[in-house]
Amino acid sequence: MSSLRVLISEAQIQARIAEMGAQIAKESSGGPLYLVGILKGACIFLSDLARAIPSPSVRLEFIGISSYGKGKSTSGEVKLTKDLDTMVEGCDVIVVEDIVDSGVTLSYLVQIFRQRNPKSLRIATLLDKPERRMRPVHVDYVGFKIPDEFVVGYGLDFAEDYRNLKDVCVLQE
Ligand code: PRP
Repeated sequence: MSSLRVLISEAQIQARIAEMGAQIAKESSGGPLYLVGILKGACIFLSDLARAIPSPSVRLEFIGISSYGKGKSTSGEVKLTKDLDTMVEGCDVIVVEDIVDSGVTLSYLVQIFRQRNPKSLRIATLLDKPERRMRPVHVDYVGFKIPDEFVVGYGLDFAEDYRNLKDVCVLQE
């Protein structure tokens, strides 16, 4: 039997996202700001973060990435399953992740985005597990640093389940 323990509550998540949105707005130029959500896990964080940025020119884009396998850790291989719909050359871009774990996904994505010549490229993640890092990545906005425990909820899954939980929870088996 598996059980769930709340690690970060819905209220804590929403309070932190309000702070992150305000900080992003303060540090943005005022032109179009592309928030690029990494499917699928980031979609819930992206929708709350977008609404926390007080600007009319926040634009939403999605990119699909899959790290092979359905297990609890990365296989080290990443593939692009869906590309952007829009050219972001000359624009401010924030890549939005639910979690940075090994850093494999983000380091791959940063390479891809640099080739698109954005005006600026920043990274925002709700969760950061620095202990697990295999590739160095610079993250501009971190919601919460968390210990090396397997977490689900608020977009994060285990074998596609639990994404719709409002809290971030530790999955214990
Ligand atoms: C998860 C998560 C990040 C990535 C982080 O995605 O959403 O994109 O892993 O791990 P890393 O830092 O070790 O690369 P996953 O491939 O599980 O797909 P999902 O978003 O559809 O759940």
